Amino acid sequence: MDRSDVSADLADILLTEQQLGERLDQMAAEIDADYRDQDLLLVGVLKGAVMVMADLARRLHHTVEMDWMAVSSYGSGTKSSGVVRILKDLDTDLTGRNVLIVEDIIDSGLTLSWLVSNLRSRGPRSVEIATMLRKPAAAKVEVDVRYVGFDIPSEFVVGYGLDYAEKYRNLPFVGTLAPHVYGG
Ligand code: XMP
Ligand code: MG
Repeated sequence: MDRSDVSADLADILLTEQQLGERLDQMAAEIDADYRDQDLLLVGVLKGAVMVMADLARRLHHTVEMDWMAVSSYGSGTKSSGVVRILKDLDTDLTGRNVLIVEDIIDSGLTLSWLVSNLRSRGPRSVEIATMLRKPAAAKVEVDVRYVGFDIPSEFVVGYGLDYAEKYRNLPFVGTLAPHVYGG
């Protein structure tokens, strides 16, 4: 399928490529300032965070390391339960490291709060979170997110790493799906 064909699948563009890029410039500047002269390990959560990781990391003036985790959260239907299984663990020993988790989106925050305590138990110096998108439900969970790209409404979004049935991840913008796509 040609990428231009997906426009019929989208209801709306929520964030353009330019808006994402401008916000990433600001986030990278903040991260550079906060970790000045300090070690920094970026931990991306597969697969959704691939775009944010690449675009954020290349904006940093810092020399960072990058590592990846893949987790699956068990839940009933589309809601995550907070019960998480590690599908791919880090290659890096976290002892004494400054860890910045890089996420695409925080919805309930349950997966992330599990991830933070898991990584904290490995003896790092610090663990912080950067996410491109955050939905309102995340506010109810005890997870302190240091860097947030955009707070967005509680709608299902795709693009910029986010998928619906593994599609749309490679869109350079964030959009909402037209109801016909998910049978609405
Ligand atoms: P939590 O535990 O914060 O889970 O509820 C966050 C994970 O849920 C997925 N998610 C989405 N994926 N569009 C997507 O493509 C969305 O609007 C959306 N909301 C949540 C995503 O995998 C994220 O890591
Ligand atoms: Mg994710």
